[in-house]
Amino acid sequence: MKTVHTIQQLRQQVLAARQAGKTIGFVPTMGNLHTGHISLIDRAKADQCFTVASIFVNPLQFDDKNDLSRYPRTLPQDQQQLEAAGCDLLFAPDVDEMYPNGQDEQSIVHVPVVSEGLCGDSRPGHFDGVSTVVSKLFNQVLPDNAYFGEKDFQQVAVIRKMVADLCMPVTVIAVPTARAEDGLALSSRNGYLSAEERQQAPGLHQTLQEIATALSQGSTLEHCIQQAGERLGQRGLRPDYLEVRHADSLQPLTSEQLQTDLPTNFSVVVLGAAFLGSARLIDNIQVTLN
Ligand code: PAJ
Repeated sequence: MKTVHTIQQLRQQVLAARQAGKTIGFVPTMGNLHTGHISLIDRAKADQCFTVASIFVNPLQFDDKNDLSRYPRTLPQDQQQLEAAGCDLLFAPDVDEMYPNGQDEQSIVHVPVVSEGLCGDSRPGHFDGVSTVVSKLFNQVLPDNAYFGEKDFQQVAVIRKMVADLCMPVTVIAVPTARAEDGLALSSRNGYLSAEERQQAPGLHQTLQEIATALSQGSTLEHCIQQAGERLGQRGLRPDYLEVRHADSLQPLTSEQLQTDLPTNFSVVVLGAAFLGSARLIDNIQVTLN
């Protein structure tokens, strides 16, 4: 696997692959890679792509500067993992390469509606930072396919809408969440958990599953969410949000909608975020009702 640090080198390598008739598959990341990230590489490889990964800790999407400065940077280990997974090219630019005129002069891509609520409320400006950097990366790499994890469900919805609204010629492919055996969604931020917190962390996934079960058994939305918030607290996590939304549009689901006759195979997503120690964990599960 070759690692390049400039847009010019990246373009040369991708052009050569394209001229050789390859489909370009792109996996954007912020590094500190784990099995979840590698599952995206695996999927791009399974799709027979010339697979390009990027590692860039994007300052524009961090609303909290402490979170940015402590974000783990582990390039040599990441390169080893990517190499072992069969990744073809790594693009690892520095901040000046991505924002040569500084972040304050950067044009911003704002994706309305789907970026509001959920993590958009808890992390102001976060999704503007994500959609801006991903659109820049798309223009730099010019991929045919781009792979994103369902773990960041709202992020996938934001990217899909951006691609549709701005007519970007990229196919967005969502990959299921990779989990530890106890159900905890793998995340670079899990490294912030103490041993005791790590024991408590699967409580978020358990709670989302309990909401899903209660909903399928006909409980009211308010009752499910209220009980789940209490359970999360008993499990040692401090809720940020717990919500049920339409899986396709990410529009909020109302209790009236749930009580009326639902269409068959009605797909909803249960989303949650919670604080544990100095970490903020997010997770979601999709459920088909009816
Ligand atoms: P990062 O958090 O590094 O995640 C990179 C990609 O890996 C995202 O698409 C994310 O959803 C996916 N991912 C993370 N944990 C996963 C898991 N347990 N299972 C499956 N996929 C998982 O998300 C970002 O970086 C950034 O916002 C980025 C898109 C790179 C823009 O800066």
